[in-house]
Amino acid sequence: MKKSMNLKHFNFNTGVLYSEDANLLELSDSLETPFYVYSAQTIRENCRSYKKGLSSSDLACYAVKANSNLSVLSLIKDEGLGFDVVSGGELKRVLKIGADPKKIVFSGVGKTKEELKLACDHEIFSINVESEYELELLEQLNKIPRISFRINPDIAAESHPYIETGKADCKFGISEEEALTLAKKYGVEKINLVGVSAHIGSQITNTDLLVEAYEKLENLADQLVSLGFEIDHIDVGGGLAIDYELEKNFSPDELIKKLKQFSSKYNLTLEPGRSIVAQAGVLITKVLGIKENGSQKFLIVDAGMNDLMRPSLYSARHKIDNLVESSEKKDLYSIVGPVCETADSFGSDFEVNANAGDYLVIYSVGAYGSSMGSNYNTRLKPAEILVDQKSHKVIRKAETFDNLIKEEEL
Ligand code: LLP
Repeated sequence: MKKSMNLKHFNFNTGVLYSEDANLLELSDSLETPFYVYSAQTIRENCRSYKKGLSSSDLACYAVKANSNLSVLSLIKDEGLGFDVVSGGELKRVLKIGADPKKIVFSGVGKTKEELKLACDHEIFSINVESEYELELLEQLNKIPRISFRINPDIAAESHPYIETGKADCKFGISEEEALTLAKKYGVEKINLVGVSAHIGSQITNTDLLVEAYEKLENLADQLVSLGFEIDHIDVGGGLAIDYELEKNFSPDELIKKLKQFSSKYNLTLEPGRSIVAQAGVLITKVLGIKENGSQKFLIVDAGMNDLMRPSLYSARHKIDNLVESSEKKDLYSIVGPVCETADSFGSDFEVNANAGDYLVIYSVGAYGSSMGSNYNTRLKPAEILVDQKSHKVIRKAETFDNLIKEEEL
């Protein structure tokens, strides 16, 4: 068994990539490409890495947006994690798999009255309030649920601008000042303010930034306590990076140690998404053909930006390799999808050996892969397969054309 990268549950065995005990070549020959494969063991281990450093009163709430497949959610629930949802739809997903409402936080910048009502009816752990109008909606609903103020601590996450969410001029959260103003305006009789939260962004490699956010939140929590609020937790959001080069590990355990070293006044809540599921997933795609235009050598594959949007949207680079090792000479290619956009490209200078019909593997797609998929160009959503040691199962069937158009009227 050859270890070609730092992914414990994806390894080459006699020249073929396996996920746990599943031979991905055999799977590829039996399924329509493209399709996603997830390793259950990887997800479990990542969940445990979060739980390890937390006490029983702390809470790790998996950010559902990263991968919202019901079977993935169920696996994560069985590991004892809670959930961070950002829409009524995500809330319904976690309720459907039987998640404990006492372990659900609801963040999001544009919650509707209906979504807030659903959260109130289920008495979730915390509604993370991001604007005064949410307090007004709760008043109209005549509800006094557990809430936290989501703070915008004015910290740059030092990642891609599209996924930085904690700078002063971002749409997310409210300032510490506004939090204090609202706390005084509403008072302990009108709101049940039990926490403060933040999420400064995603793909954060410098964990000191999360510590900085935590310190700001703790300072604010102390001030809210002095106003009479019973603050029981600080939610520092998600954001821990993964290494798309498959070399380093960013350890949740170390992050938690860092956060906990200077305070234990409040329980800690975290909202990890990417770091739980990203490295658990690969996307298998087939080479449709090769062509040269100008100075570019293109490998055209059957997965496109609609299946994995990250390269097009954030210029993200995911490692791509042959699914079956070969001794034939490799060449440098731009790997592109079939979608009618120049942006439908996974990047250039990939070194692969490729002939039409070969399979390629795109790594680190368990987070923000399938969940950001679309039907652009009337392309059908791919299947998702969950491998769990010796067994594997289809956890979402490949979409059919009839299903795709079923809500349309002629
Ligand atoms: N909590 C909140 C309130 C969030 O908005 C997010 C992510 C998370 C937690 C989880 O963050 P994570 O641990 O996954 O970094 N589509 C982008 C990422 C967008 C993240 C949005 N919010 C990407 O593919 O890189």
